[in-house]
Amino acid sequence: MDHGSDTAAAVSSQNTTRRYFEHFSGKVSSTNTVLTASLKAQYPHLRLSVLAGVDLLGFADGGNARCISLDDDATNANLPSSVVTNTYLPPSRRAGGSSGAIAQNIHFGKFLYQWQDHDFILYVAYGLDGDSGLSSNTFTYLLSSDERTSEALILAAGSWTSSLHEEIWVFDGGYWSKNAALYRSVMKSSWDAVVLDANMKKDLINDHLYFFQSRDTYQRLKVPWRRGIIYHGPPGNGKTISIKAMMHTLYDLQPQVPTLYVRSLASFMGPERSIKDIFSKARQSAPCYLVFEDLDSLVSDSARSYFLNEVGGLKDNDGIFMIGSTNHLDRLDPGISAKLKGNEDLSFPDKLCDAIAGITDGFSFAYMQEAFVAALLAIARDEKPGGIVAAVDVLTVDGADDWVEVLDGSTRAEDPELDHLVLWVEIKKQIRILREGMGEDDGHVGADLVSA
Ligand SMILES: Nc1ncnc2c1ncn2[C@@H]1O[C@H](COP(=O)(O)OP(=O)(O)OP(=O)(O)O)[C@@H](O)[C@H]1O
Ligand SMILES: [Mg+2]
Repeated sequence: MDHGSDTAAAVSSQNTTRRYFEHFSGKVSSTNTVLTASLKAQYPHLRLSVLAGVDLLGFADGGNARCISLDDDATNANLPSSVVTNTYLPPSRRAGGSSGAIAQNIHFGKFLYQWQDHDFILYVAYGLDGDSGLSSNTFTYLLSSDERTSEALILAAGSWTSSLHEEIWVFDGGYWSKNAALYRSVMKSSWDAVVLDANMKKDLINDHLYFFQSRDTYQRLKVPWRRGIIYHGPPGNGKTISIKAMMHTLYDLQPQVPTLYVRSLASFMGPERSIKDIFSKARQSAPCYLVFEDLDSLVSDSARSYFLNEVGGLKDNDGIFMIGSTNHLDRLDPGISAKLKGNEDLSFPDKLCDAIAGITDGFSFAYMQEAFVAALLAIARDEKPGGIVAAVDVLTVDGADDWVEVLDGSTRAEDPELDHLVLWVEIKKQIRILREGMGEDDGHVGADLVSA
C-alpha cells in the first residue's frame, strides 16, 4: 500500500494556498447578469433596456403611465408571479387619529407598462450584484418592440424622476421621499388663516422674500447668503401653520423656491447620518427653504454638534433659508452661540460699542451677531442709490471711520449724537425684536432669528 500518496492528497486538500484560490474561483453572483441573459433568451425579439435612476413605477403612480401587474405563464404555476413585502409605517404622531400607512416594497414583479399608446413589459427585481463586493440593488428591465419608443419613455420618466411634481421633498425615517399630500395641504394654507400680530406677520414675510432676492446684497455686505429662523412656543400655537403659509408664499414666487421638509432626524443609522443627507440635498436644491419641524429631536450632544457644524461650519450653505420649530428653545441656544465667530472686518467707535453693550445685557454671541446682521440687512433693504448703501459698504471695511450715515435728524434721543447713526437706530430696533422673542412663552408664536 502506498501510504505516501494518501497523505499527500490529504495535505493538499488542506493546503491554505489552494483553499484560498478555490475560494475565489467560485461563480460570482450577479442578479443583473443572470436576469439580463435570461430575459434576452425569453424575449429574443424584444429590445431590452436595463435602467438605473429611472423610477418607472413612480412615473406611473404619478398618472403618467399605466402599470398592470402580470401573472407569469402557466409553466411557472408553482411559482409566485411577484414577491412583495408590505411594511407598516406608523403615523408620525400618535395624536390626530391617523392609523399609519402601508408601504409596498417590490422584490420581484412583472408588469404590463402602457405609455402613450405603446406597450412595454417591465420587470423589477431586487438582487445582489457582484460588481464591487456584493451590493444589493433594485434592477429595472424594460422590454419593447421598438428602440426609439423605449428611449423616449426612458427620457420622459428619467426627467420626471429627477424633478418634483406638485410634491415636496420630505425627510422622515432616515431618507428623502416625495410627498404630494403635503404639497396639497401647503397649497391650501394661507397667511390669512394665521392669527399673528400684523406687523410681525408682515416682517416675517418680507424677511423671507427679501432674502431670496438679495444674493448680491449679502455678497456686498460680506455676509454669507443664508438665514435661519426658529419658531418656538408651546404645542398648538401656530408654528406649523405659519411654516406652511410661508411655503405656499414661496411656491407662488416666480421662479418657485422649493421647500425641503424635515419631519424627524430619527433613523436607524442615527441622527448624524440624517443631518449629513439633509444638508447635502439642501445644498443641491439651493436656493431653497429648509424646514426642520421639531428641532427637539436634536437633543443629544453629538447630534447637536454635528448639526451646528453643518449649519455654520465651512460648508457652503449659500441660498439656504432654514426654519426650525421647537417647544424647547432653551435646549438649542448654548450650542448655537458656541458656533459663532466675530466679524473681524467690523470696526466702529468706542462710543457705539458702549452704547450697544448697554442694551444687550444677557445676550449670547448668537443674539449679538444676529442683531448686527439683521441691522445691516435692514439698512441695506432700505437703501437708496448712492445713499445709505455706500455707508454700509464702508462698514465692512476695516478702519473706516466715516461709515455712519445721518438719518434725517429728527429723532428724540437720550444721546442725540448716537441717534444720528443709522446703525445705532437700526440695531436698537433689532435688539428690541430679539428681546421680544426671548420673552417668556405666552402662547403666541415666537420667532427668533438665529444666525447660521
Ligand atoms: N396663531 C394661530 N392662528 C390660527 N390658527 C392657529 C394658530 N395657532 C394654532 N392654530 C390652530 O391650531 C392648530 C395647530 O397649530 P399648529 O399645528 O400650527 O401648532 P404648532 O405650533 O405647530 O404645534 P406643535 O408644537 O405641537 O407642533 C392649527 O391647525 C390651527 O388650526
Ligand atoms: Mg407643529
